[in-house]
Amino acid sequence: MIYTTHTPEETAELGKKFALQLKKGDTICLDGEMGAGKTVFVQGCAKALGFNEPVTSPTFTLCNEYITKELKILHYDLYRIMDEDDLFSVGFYDNDGDIVFVEWAGNADITDRKCIHLKFSYGSGNNERNIEIPD
Ligand SMILES: Nc1ncnc2c1ncn2[C@@H]1O[C@H](COP(=O)(O)OP(=O)(O)O)[C@@H](O)[C@H]1O
Ligand SMILES: [Mg+2]
Repeated sequence: MIYTTHTPEETAELGKKFALQLKKGDTICLDGEMGAGKTVFVQGCAKALGFNEPVTSPTFTLCNEYITKELKILHYDLYRIMDEDDLFSVGFYDNDGDIVFVEWAGNADITDRKCIHLKFSYGSGNNERNIEIPD
């Protein structure tokens, strides 16, 4: 199903709703151009999962951790990742997150687990974004 949003708030709200179905062990892969709303979406997800602090892009850190009472959430950004070795060095294969978000997942070949794939793209208006979420 493709959802169209018109503000960052709407995208975060969609993330909140999406996150309600997530369970421990889930990996969510977010792909789409720079600025398409992947991080904003994860911000909504993290809030719905009980993390109440600000969520920022892990563009430089490669991975952020959000600890709640029940969950350890990992938030990767693989924009700068070149190969499997890089993925290995950022601890991706340590599997120590309960719920894992991966921006730019398409930059790596994730074969060790099943992922929920989300696709982000720009719509026609300036602030329009199309977000494809599997049914
Ligand atoms: N409908 C929308 N959904 C999400 N972000 C939007 C929307 N309209 C405008 N924006 C802006 O686009 C940018 C999206 O940034 P971000 O979520 O970091 O993108 P990405 O992580 O995909 O690179 C933000 O600056 C946000 O304010
Ligand atoms: Mg981002």
